[in-house]
Amino acid sequence: MKLSPSLLSANFANLEKDIREVERNGVEMLHIDVMDGHFVPNITIGPVVLQSIRKITELKLDVHLMISNPGQYINAFVDAGADILTVHAEADIHLHRTLSIIRELGVKAGVSINPSTPLSMIEEIAEIMDLLLIMSVNPGFGGQSFIEKSLEKIYKADQIRNQRKLDFLIEVDGGIKPQNAAKVLNAGADILVAGSAIFKGQQISENIRLLNESARMEIQP
Ligand code: DX5
Ligand code: ZN
Repeated sequence: MKLSPSLLSANFANLEKDIREVERNGVEMLHIDVMDGHFVPNITIGPVVLQSIRKITELKLDVHLMISNPGQYINAFVDAGADILTVHAEADIHLHRTLSIIRELGVKAGVSINPSTPLSMIEEIAEIMDLLLIMSVNPGFGGQSFIEKSLEKIYKADQIRNQRKLDFLIEVDGGIKPQNAAKVLNAGADILVAGSAIFKGQQISENIRLLNESARMEIQP
């Protein structure tokens, strides 16, 4: 299991402090939520902030674009230092082209789908995506509750991956807590995004320890 801490719930007045803290706790990647106030109701950060984060960390930058027409901004986010660039299937009518461009630029290409979007949406492009990001909340805000129905979708995505002998990673985003991490992993997820469960409440190190502990229950029946 890999954890991708979502900076959305970090302290935006002192991102470096929170980034150092996740680095110290053995995390390999950072999830960066980009929102445009159009595809989702909230507005967050853009390439300028991503570039500043890139300068201070070697962590893999897992960039989740919740923006309309993401194809227009691929170059900007690649130049700013993204390692994984994920676009929403619902936001892009030229998904095949966008994924191909991301890959040509040497960055891993991800596709995300909302809770109301069926898996059939990725059927034709599954071969050219490196990562499938299954939203387990409606995107836009941190701190929402996990939608249980997502478990079925994760399980089906894992089946499709096996049947078609594909090797995309399955990442799950929204409402991940120590209480549900194991069942999400059991359903077939490889990467768990967690925002409020890592940056809110008690210390970041203790929060990460609790998530890792829960993940270890994965193989138990
Ligand atoms: C939601 C974002 C998530 C969010 C997760 O639109 O894509 O990455 O930060 O936050 P939690 O873990 O608090 O649900
Ligand atoms: Zn996200």
